[in-house]
Amino acid sequence: MAAPTPLSSAPPGPRGGRSSSNAADYAVDPLGFLTSAAREFGDVVSLTPANVLLAHPDDIGRVLLDREGLVAKIGAATRRGPMGFPLAMMNSEGADWERKRARLRPALRSDRLEGLERAAREGVARLVDTWHDGLEIDVHDEMSRLAMGVGAVHLAGRPLGARGETLIRAVAAIMRLTSAPRLPMWLPTRTNRDLRRSLRDFDTTLAALIAEHPAGEDDNALGRLLADGPPFAEVRDELATLLMSGYETTANALTWLLHALGGRPEAAERMAEPGFAAAAAKEAMRLYPPAWVISRETVRPLEAGGYTLPAGTTLGLSQWVVHRDGRWFPDPEEFLPERWLDGGRPGHRHAYFPFGAGPRGCAGASMALREVEVIATALCSRVRLEPVRPERVRPRPALALQPVGVRALVRPR
Ligand code: HEM
Repeated sequence: MAAPTPLSSAPPGPRGGRSSSNAADYAVDPLGFLTSAAREFGDVVSLTPANVLLAHPDDIGRVLLDREGLVAKIGAATRRGPMGFPLAMMNSEGADWERKRARLRPALRSDRLEGLERAAREGVARLVDTWHDGLEIDVHDEMSRLAMGVGAVHLAGRPLGARGETLIRAVAAIMRLTSAPRLPMWLPTRTNRDLRRSLRDFDTTLAALIAEHPAGEDDNALGRLLADGPPFAEVRDELATLLMSGYETTANALTWLLHALGGRPEAAERMAEPGFAAAAAKEAMRLYPPAWVISRETVRPLEAGGYTLPAGTTLGLSQWVVHRDGRWFPDPEEFLPERWLDGGRPGHRHAYFPFGAGPRGCAGASMALREVEVIATALCSRVRLEPVRPERVRPRPALALQPVGVRALVRPR
């Protein structure tokens, strides 16, 4: 008979990491639950028998930089769950992932961003022209429209026109509906009908964008995808995930940055100084990381913090938890772009990972950073955004960390 596994071999965790009520607590307040789990139980925390939170940057670096096949992004457990757009690079593994990633690389390179910068400045100018002194805006709505427009020009090579609104509505509905608890898809509930309609609108719009792409124009992501002549469904899935992952996260990052600058008007005044906008964007993504948790699955047993985690364990790595850990960031709750100036770094090289890291790190990180910097700087040079009831702002940890309640009065400069 095999000896029973000593209890101490499992990492500690809330309710011994063995209770399904952990899942319920997580569902109610994921940010609070993960933060207190890490602060109370340490750097390796059992959330359930199959789910472990890793909160030490040593472990995070090892897992994200893994090239020895210790972990997979899409493991057996992940594959069992519902997964939209399965043919996209983001949802692929192994040689298939490598081929898809290489295909997009030239279109997302950091030296290919002049067009993006131009589109961003033009987008801001057009938007600000529709505003007037004293207008109250929903900052997230405005930034969403801007990010979808600018992102699509860069990815597809042309403006979306009226289709932009359809895509924004569809993506917002998909995000909202997929992050809420839901009855099985075959049940004719109102939510399911709405989700189906949004998916259909999304599909039709993507199909039109793909069909209309001029043959031979391959200096953008869509053109690169089409150049290889892959099946339609593969192009559709890739374009869908690029637009969804790129737009929602970037709009959130921008909104959080403007919210944070609203609380420190003297920092908003410095946005045009060399290096300041980049530092402010970095700092906003530290405090409000659009990707607030990512996961991996162990393929082989993994040693972490003195524990052996068996194969098949889902590892949670939370940017929200680690970015707000005082061991790596003094005054972790404060918005201090200054901490990044003059070569400033966190207390550990893997304590800051808004874009993930390693081979599966964000393919659009340069694009996103540049877009956020250029848009925020252009906005701050034209207007002052006076916060309206900032005390009501709160994060909603959906697929991305959504800012809720960011409103501002427009004041021209
Ligand atoms: C502020 C904006 C953004 C944030 C915070 C962000 C964050 C992330 C993170 C954390 C990952 C890694 C996920 C993991 O390791 O499990 C990721 C992957 C990815 N991101 Fe982004 N992202 C942003 C913008 C963009 C943009 C603009 C694009 C493309 C146009 C993009 C495309 C991708 C793709 C394709 C992957 C999958 C890479 C792979 O699996 O090899 N992202 N992103």
